[in-house]
Amino acid sequence: MQTLLVTGGAGFIGADFVLQARKTQWANIVNLDKLTYASNLQNLAELRGDPNYYFVQGDIGNPELVRYLLEHYQPDAIINFAAESHVDRSIFSPQDFIQTNIVGTFQLLEASRLYWQKLSSQKQKQFRFLHVSTDEVYGSLSSTDTPFREDTPYAPNSPYAASKAGADHLVRAYHHTYGLPTLTTNCSNNYGPRQFPEKLIPLTILNALDGKPLPIYGDGQNVRDWLYVADHCDALYLVLRQGQIGETYNIGGQNEQTNLAVVEKICAILDELVPQSGLRRSSLIAFIKDRPGHDRRYAIDCSKINRDLDWQPRENFDSGLVKTVQWYLSNSVWIDQVRSRAYRNWLKHNYEDRKA
Ligand code: NAD
Ligand code: DAU
Repeated sequence: MQTLLVTGGAGFIGADFVLQARKTQWANIVNLDKLTYASNLQNLAELRGDPNYYFVQGDIGNPELVRYLLEHYQPDAIINFAAESHVDRSIFSPQDFIQTNIVGTFQLLEASRLYWQKLSSQKQKQFRFLHVSTDEVYGSLSSTDTPFREDTPYAPNSPYAASKAGADHLVRAYHHTYGLPTLTTNCSNNYGPRQFPEKLIPLTILNALDGKPLPIYGDGQNVRDWLYVADHCDALYLVLRQGQIGETYNIGGQNEQTNLAVVEKICAILDELVPQSGLRRSSLIAFIKDRPGHDRRYAIDCSKINRDLDWQPRENFDSGLVKTVQWYLSNSVWIDQVRSRAYRNWLKHNYEDRKA
C-alpha cells in the first residue's frame, strides 16, 4: 500500500479525499494541517484508532517540519490541498494567502525536491507531487466565451486567484527545471458535506434554517460550474495514479448555474424537507453590494481528463444538492461547533453595511 503525505486534509476537500483513501484502503495517510479556522478535526473523527492514519498539526511553510515528515514517513506521493481558500477573505486580508498559497507551496516544493533527489531511481520514477488548484486562475468568462481549457492563459483577478496562480507557476517550474514529477489540477466550485459555512452553499443552508437573510452579491447572475466534492476526489485519485507527469488537468461539473438559481434550489429543497408554516425560504433572498472584482462566469472544459483518464462526474446537481442539505440537517453538532465567535465576527465583517 502507498503512503501519501496529504496537506490540508482537515479542510473540506482534503478531508473527503482522506476519508475515501482510508475507506478503500488504497493508501496510508499522513495528514499535515495547520488547523486554521477553516479546518475541522471532527471531519476526520471516524478515523480515530486507524493505525494507518497519522495527523500532524503544522504549517506547509515550515521546512524543518516538512523535511522531518518526508524522512520519517517516506511517502510515495504528496497531495497539496493546504491553502487559504476564501475569495472574500483574500480581499480583506491578502497576507495569509500569499504566505500559505505561494510561500508555503514553495517551501513544500523545495523540501519535496530535496527528498526526491535522494530517492533510489526506481522510487524517483514512482514519486508524484500533486498540486490541487482552481479554475479561478483563468480569470472570468463572458456568457459567450468557450469554457476554460488547460491552455487558456492565466488571468487571475482576486488576491486568492493570484496566489493560487503563483503556486501553479512554481509547481510548473519545479517540474521543468528539476524534473520533479508534478501534476496540477484546476477544478471548478465544489459543494458537498463538511464545507465551512462562509461559502455560498453552506452559508445559504444555515441562514435559511435560521430564517436569516440569504445574501446574494450584485444581480445574482454570476455563473459557477458546480461539482460534487466526491467527484473531485475521484478525479484526483485518477490523476495521481494515471496522470502524465508535468501535465495539468481541468476538472469541472459541466454544470453551470447562476448564484440566484443555486440559492433558489436550496430554498425549494428546505421548504420540502423542513417546511415552516407561512414561510417560503426564497422570500429571505437579499441582493447586496457586489464582491469587488467579482468574476462573472467560470466554466470548465474537462474533455482532457475525460478522454485521457476516463473521468466524468457521477453526481447530478439536483441529487447532490439534496444530499448536501441532508448532511447539514443531520449534523447539528458539527454546525454548532463551527459557529464560533470568530465565525460570527466574520459574518459581521463581510455582511454588515452591505445593503445594495
Ligand atoms: P478549506 O479552506 O476548506 O481547507 C483548507 C485546509 O488547509 C484547512 O484544513 C486549513 O487548516 C489547511 N491549511 C491552511 N493553511 C495551511 C498551512 N499553511 N499549512 C497546512 N495546512 C494549512 O479549502 P478547500 O475548499 O478544502 O480547498 C482545498 C484546496 O482545493 C485548496 O487548495 C483550494 O484552493 C482548492 N480548490 C477548492 C475548490 C472549492 O470549491 N472549495 C475548488 C477548486 C480548488
Ligand atoms: O472556482 C473554484 C473556487 O470556488 C475555489 O477555488 C475557491 O476556493 C472556492 O471558495 C470557490 O470560490 P467562489 O468565490 O466561487 O465561491 P463562494 O462560495 O465564495 O461564492 C460562489 C458565488 O456566490 C460567487 O459568485 C460569489 C457568490 N456569493 C458568495 C457568498 C459567500 C454570494 O452571492 N453571496 C455570498 O454570501
